[in-house]
Amino acid sequence: MFENFRVYLRALEPEDYKKSIIWRNDDEIWGMVGGPKHFVSNAYEKKWVEDAIFNTSNITLAICLKDTDEYIGNAYITDINWINRSAHAPSMIGEKKYWSAGLATEARILLLYFAFYERGFNRIYAHILEDNIGSQRMCEKCGYKKEGLLRESVYKNGTFKNQVVMSVLRRDFDIELDNFLSKNQ
Ligand SMILES: CC(C)(COP(=O)(O)OP(=O)(O)OC[C@H]1O[C@@H](n2cnc3c(N)ncnc32)[C@H](O)[C@@H]1OP(=O)(O)O)[C@@H](O)C(=O)NCCC(=O)NCCS
Repeated sequence: MFENFRVYLRALEPEDYKKSIIWRNDDEIWGMVGGPKHFVSNAYEKKWVEDAIFNTSNITLAICLKDTDEYIGNAYITDINWINRSAHAPSMIGEKKYWSAGLATEARILLLYFAFYERGFNRIYAHILEDNIGSQRMCEKCGYKKEGLLRESVYKNGTFKNQVVMSVLRRDFDIELDNFLSKNQ
């Protein structure tokens, strides 16, 4: 089904911290996500990756290019609620030279397929900074619908910023997946 995709997902490996630390210390990337700014040391990032590998509550995966196996970003499933079958699933393409090439959309589709069809989730949601248009557009392309606005929900760069709440249900995803695959075969 995903033969034409240019990316694949794999488990994190201990040495991945050498790249992910660069992304985590990048101010442009930090400015696009909801979390607060951290100054991240090698020791912290190394432990973060090791902890993520053995964490059984959250799922953290590496996004890689099929052609070269280059590690270009991360995809996560967090805040899992097994009763409601819902979770948060953020992602990032850390290698900025690959932005706007459709790779984040492909990676999110792979992540959603895993979430809905291997783990049995029904709802995957996102809280996206209102000014992060690329992330909202990428979510729309995967079937997410806008649910509302969290007003001034995060403090960043000296101001309080709004976050858009979006979610995709498995039935929304099924429709968008068919559309996406028929356009990209
Ligand atoms: C947001 C992010 C994931 C988008 O990745 P990407 O690989 O550039 O996304 P895609 O190429 O799959 O693009 C998806 C859609 O968004 C559009 N888009 C991407 N960046 C955009 C931007 N800065 N402004 C407007 N539209 C943008 C693309 O044109 C495409 O729409 P189209 O097919 O209608 O043309 C990437 O910029 C990133 O990782 N940023 C840092 C971390 C982050 O913001 N993560 C999301 C947190 S909620």
